[in-house]
Amino acid sequence: MKEEKIELSFVRAKLHELSAADQDLIKTAKQSFSNAYAPYSGFLVGATVLLSNGEIINGSNQENVAYPSGLCAERVALFYAGAKYPNISIKTIAVSAKSTTFKVNDVVSPCGACRQVMAEYEQKQEESIRILLHSPNDDVLIANSVEDLLPFMFTSPLLKKH
Ligand code: THU
Repeated sequence: MKEEKIELSFVRAKLHELSAADQDLIKTAKQSFSNAYAPYSGFLVGATVLLSNGEIINGSNQENVAYPSGLCAERVALFYAGAKYPNISIKTIAVSAKSTTFKVNDVVSPCGACRQVMAEYEQKQEESIRILLHSPNDDVLIANSVEDLLPFMFTSPLLKKH
């Protein structure tokens, strides 16, 4: 028997410490959450994807009365990017949120399903995706790869036939 450890790395910063380009992405993610359709949770999430061709894709969470039919902001943006630009790599995804009922004090941490989807695109493009997670008090958590958000992830090249 042998204990093994996985190391994760991320950076905590204040919004103003980021590059102008990263600050702009977060600003866009904040604008995107006003397009959220979240009548059931009142939790509005915006996700902005920057592609390597400079294109920016916005997503927001879209809920449904049959709860599991809704989709998180991150997957709305990522699937739209994948559908519109299947051969363009994803550089960065920025996420920001607010609630209509309580004060959000920390960054939105993407759910497991969204991390899995990010992981798929990172594997597909063989290039890391940066993740910027923003809180309403302008704290930002920066991860340089999905691997830092999803340790021990399920990846199986053997399943990929095409
Ligand atoms: N949600 C997101 O859009 N992204 C996240 O990272 C966490 C949760 C949405 C799903 C649902 O519409 C609402 O937030 C409450 O869970």
